Amino acid sequence: MLKEILTGASKFFLKNGDAILMCKYVHGYSGRESERLYDQANAVRDLLHHDTVFPPDSNVLEAGCGVGAQTVILAKNSPDAEIVAIDISQDSITQASDSIAKEKVMNVHLLQADILTLPFEDESFDHVFLCFVLEHLKEPVRALMDLRKVLKTGGSLTVIEGDHGSCHFHPETDETLQAWRCLIQVQTYQKGNSLIGRQLFPLLKGAHLHNIQISPRMVYIDSSKPELMEGFVNKTIVPMVEGVEKQTLELKLMGKTAWDKGIQDLRKIAARPDGTFCYTFFKGVGMK
Ligand SMILES: C[S@@+](CC[C@H](N)C(=O)[O-])C[C@H]1O[C@@H](n2cnc3c(N)ncnc32)[C@H](O)[C@@H]1O
Repeated sequence: MLKEILTGASKFFLKNGDAILMCKYVHGYSGRESERLYDQANAVRDLLHHDTVFPPDSNVLEAGCGVGAQTVILAKNSPDAEIVAIDISQDSITQASDSIAKEKVMNVHLLQADILTLPFEDESFDHVFLCFVLEHLKEPVRALMDLRKVLKTGGSLTVIEGDHGSCHFHPETDETLQAWRCLIQVQTYQKGNSLIGRQLFPLLKGAHLHNIQISPRMVYIDSSKPELMEGFVNKTIVPMVEGVEKQTLELKLMGKTAWDKGIQDLRKIAARPDGTFCYTFFKGVGMK
């Protein structure tokens, strides 16, 4: 059964009759990972988003919106576009709904849905956007092909990913380097790919997109940028590494003492006058 959803100037056709959850305030909880995603999005907002502006009245699908950290930025940068944001996790959709309401964003519609079983008709959207999602998927090209199906011919697909192999910092210690390697290994063990940024061109090409443009976006921070040290290193990077402690210890990739020192040394980078940090994101745009 197809259900037609009318939202302002736009129509979305859902295959299974699900309703789109309109933005409303929900008093949700805010876990540490959610806060990290908001901090990450805000710390690198201009670097990643300054050149993504969707035309008035265009329909945009954001796939894997999580708690809405990028969604709010997209919606504010393109206030006259209609954004449908989906995530496989209903909890994330509920939190996204909360943050969208708090930010008074009116052009976003949220829906719990899986990228691999999209509930939309083919050629429904003018543009597709996804950020930090492919790295977690076992079959990223399959996901891109499924997203391509719901994209209109002539429309664009934008993808942003990090690449943990691009990270350099000073000072390095044996333990910081080991802890960083554990982050990469744990994601590989979980069938994800934290080195995916450098692969965006072949992935987009594999999904039959054309006119592909890839642009590396490097974040470089030293003690002359204390706000970025705090927002990016302390609130985004360090919690991301801390997030794999359990798996690192279970897989015996590092011992607890060395792990704790690695985390402490990483934290110290932001506090030291000689501390520096460098990381590269990759943004790719392809056309259907
Ligand atoms: C690292 S989070 C990124 C969230 C958001 N894009 C951001 O940048 O803040 C990855 C998100 O992808 C979602 N996700 C993973 N697999 C998915 C799938 N098959 N369909 C839809 N969402 C998916 C997860 O639930 C999670 O919210």
